[in-house]
Amino acid sequence: MQNFEFTAVARIINGVGSALELAAQCRRLDIERPLLVTDPGLMSIGLIQPVLAALEKEGLSPLVFDQVREDPPEATVLAAAEVARRGNVDGVIAVGGGSSMDVAKVVAVLLGSQQTLSELYGVNQVTGGRLPLILVPTTAGTGSEVTPVAVITTGETTKAGVSSPVLLPDVAVLDAALTLGLPPAITAMTGVDAMVHAIEAYTSRHKKNPLSDNLAVKALALLSRNIRTAVHDGGNREARGNMLLGACLAGQAFANAPVGAVHALAYPLGGHYHIPHGLSNSLVLPAVLDFNASHADELYAELAEVVIGAPVAGSASAKSAALTAAMRQLVDDVKLPATLQQAGVKESDLEMLASDAMLQQRLLMNNPREVSYEDALSIYKAAYRGGA
Ligand SMILES: NC(=O)c1ccc[n+]([C@@H]2O[C@H](COP(=O)([O-])OP(=O)(O)OC[C@H]3O[C@@H](n4cnc5c(N)ncnc54)[C@H](O)[C@@H]3O)[C@@H](O)[C@H]2O)c1
Ligand SMILES: [Fe+2]
Repeated sequence: MQNFEFTAVARIINGVGSALELAAQCRRLDIERPLLVTDPGLMSIGLIQPVLAALEKEGLSPLVFDQVREDPPEATVLAAAEVARRGNVDGVIAVGGGSSMDVAKVVAVLLGSQQTLSELYGVNQVTGGRLPLILVPTTAGTGSEVTPVAVITTGETTKAGVSSPVLLPDVAVLDAALTLGLPPAITAMTGVDAMVHAIEAYTSRHKKNPLSDNLAVKALALLSRNIRTAVHDGGNREARGNMLLGACLAGQAFANAPVGAVHALAYPLGGHYHIPHGLSNSLVLPAVLDFNASHADELYAELAEVVIGAPVAGSASAKSAALTAAMRQLVDDVKLPATLQQAGVKESDLEMLASDAMLQQRLLMNNPREVSYEDALSIYKAAYRGGA
């Protein structure tokens, strides 16, 4: 077995209602005046107010920044940091999806160190500390609450990552009650994103390790068993709890065994078409699985049985094909579009998307099979029509 390193969040709290008990965690971290980072949609459905009220009831004085946009641009991060600075906050809490959590992570660093935002991009560029940080996900998807990464939109069509263990929060709080009202389409997209995290972690080329493997398998079992119920019966607490835990475990897996070509080819779709992150992944997943099969069929064969939940007969390549088929079926069952064409992508843009995907070398290097420009283009072509 090759050497490996595994980093994790020091404290994960899982429990319905745990978001109403953040004050105890704030006390432990000496936070009195936290910045609570969230988005306007969550404020308007009343999801945040009880969390704020619970903090205030315990004598804390939270300040709210509720202007996070999806795929947060730099302007959002800078605006939140400005509010935090003026408000003299002593900690940062995110209650929201990956977008809010990623903003909170970077704001905590900007306030705790002397660095500017542009100095933070890349791997291990954070040199200072950060303010105390608590992350509370409201989607069961990104796993950002346990990853050392924040993804920020830097231009019209480009995203950049800040990757540093400093971004791991002090506490991740999983409260499935917050996810009960997540609409079906977002449940489906974010749930598939989490499944892709598990699949790509399990086949990660250089940093695959036994801890991530176990987390990925458990995550995939939880997610594949519960995603249909969570989408079609959103009020089902057990399904929601299992999805939230599954997404967190998948996040913990890929935090240490990074994702590959599915994510690399998904990013340009988000950049150019504003297709949500999870749907972008879902659209290219079957074609990438088919492409990778020659180099990863043994591993895909193992995952096929996890996703299907029963032994699968046949050779490794037959089992690997069964994984692709099971994922296609799952995407259909949760009512997501299956092809780039259905998602509104123009066929004439596929070359441009393939060129952009090649810029994601940080991710492509983790893929089990090398991906050339021609490979990326043929994957997009297959994803466009939905064929192999
Ligand atoms: N840091 C990481 O490790 C990591 C990993 C993957 C993706 N990402 C990033 O995360 C972002 C995507 O995050 P996301 O998919 O969680 O979505 P999001 O945070 O962008 O939110 C999507 C929408 O869902 C709504 N929503 C969220 N929770 C809800 C709830 N409980 N009820 C009703 N509506 C709710 C929000 O209001 C928003 O409109 C992207 O920017 C992506 O690049 C980060
Ligand atoms: Fe993702």
